[in-house]
Amino acid sequence: MPAPTAVPNDAAPNDAAIDAMLAREKARYVQRNPKSAELSATTARHWLRGVPMHWMVDWGLPFPLFVAEARGNRLTDADGNSYVDFCLGDTGAMFGHSPEPLAEALCEAGSRGLTTMMPSPDAAVVGALLADRFGLPCWQVTATASDANRSVLRWARAITGRARILVFSGCYHGAVDETFVELRDGRPVHAIGLIGEPRDLTANTKVVEFNDIPALRAALAPRDVACVLAEPIMTNTGMVLPDPGFLDALRAITRETGTILVIDETHTMSSGAGGYARATGLEADAIVLGKPIAGGIPAAVYGFSAAIADRIGDFLATRQPGHSGIGTTLSGSSIQLALIRRMLETYFTDEAFAPLAMLAERLETGIAATIARHRMPWHVVRVGARVEFMCCPDRPRNGTESARAIHRPIDQAIHHYMLNRGVVITPFHNMLLICPATTAADVDRTVGLLDTCLTELRGSAPAA
Ligand SMILES: Cc1ncc(COP(=O)(O)O)c(C=O)c1O
Repeated sequence: MPAPTAVPNDAAPNDAAIDAMLAREKARYVQRNPKSAELSATTARHWLRGVPMHWMVDWGLPFPLFVAEARGNRLTDADGNSYVDFCLGDTGAMFGHSPEPLAEALCEAGSRGLTTMMPSPDAAVVGALLADRFGLPCWQVTATASDANRSVLRWARAITGRARILVFSGCYHGAVDETFVELRDGRPVHAIGLIGEPRDLTANTKVVEFNDIPALRAALAPRDVACVLAEPIMTNTGMVLPDPGFLDALRAITRETGTILVIDETHTMSSGAGGYARATGLEADAIVLGKPIAGGIPAAVYGFSAAIADRIGDFLATRQPGHSGIGTTLSGSSIQLALIRRMLETYFTDEAFAPLAMLAERLETGIAATIARHRMPWHVVRVGARVEFMCCPDRPRNGTESARAIHRPIDQAIHHYMLNRGVVITPFHNMLLICPATTAADVDRTVGLLDTCLTELRGSAPAA
């Protein structure tokens, strides 16, 4: 996920200490990672921004950390330093790096051919598993969650005959052009960092604040919106929870106005074996699942309710032949299906999720106690296996409030401090994800590190 826009936070504690820590930790990083420095100098010659994907430099490190190996919840860098990984590829490796069942499936299926443009027998099993776990009957495979979201928008527009979509300000749904619209001073504008977009995206994208029911109702009232594309919890701008009743209202208003409700569970599937919607009884018309669905190889899926699938069937019956603009060559491949099958069978079960949530609770409790001991005006929030601490006292209720609370220098100082002591936190905000390989000792060590980090940041030990 690329870096979101950060808005300065006026309530930042102790700026001088933050700057001093960051300078110290950057120097320590440089000293600890000579091999990564050398690799970085070499890769600078042939890669845009010196890395195979340009946002890899947005971590803000003096130079990228080159990872030689990733297994379970451990990373080893090019210099041989090892790390406990709570970033887990920003959810792509939610069940750990190359867990054994996945590595086995990769070897087995990999030797039977990777892609044929025809379905493999796994399709029968995977379709049924997706329906069973996530509660929708009709599915498709894409290469990425971005592709899945793009495809769903197309289908929604096709069957409703409506051009517009609606998103929540501060959302991130991948590289999907029309979602890069946000509210600035209450006005819809292009997301500030968007590159190379010549169209006025606000023409077809409505944007309102999360948790703002009157604004949502007003935006959907003209019945010109094909679909709302939403995460049930905003996870890409810190973590923003729905107010009690908000998701019910979202469901009711979309139904009243004939608007399709698309729930992007790419991150929130860390809530449980059937994702957040299943766990909370939210009845989506469509669901998108990306990143970890095939354990980290490029794959995503989207599912439709029976009613939407029927409407698509009717639409296709009258459609002219030709390129649909939906789907890519390597999507639905046999290797994707084999790995999705293995992940669903092995990890998308209540038994597999229960210990993750328990350990995440331990982390949440530990961080909350540390914040309290240091009397920091911060808070921590958890959904399933996902824990996020935010440098503001109260939970933000929408993307704008959350962006205001994100304090890039503090985040950077803490991330550098942790990294130099062997703990990786998700960049751009403070998300920590638990996987089956994470141990209680990993959690306790991380809480202990946060404690010493805050002691240094505050320049004194907390009151006992
Ligand atoms: C909620 C959500 N949806 C979709 C995506 C896009 O995923 P990908 O980059 O794998 O296409 C992301 C990426 O961070 C995401 O957070």
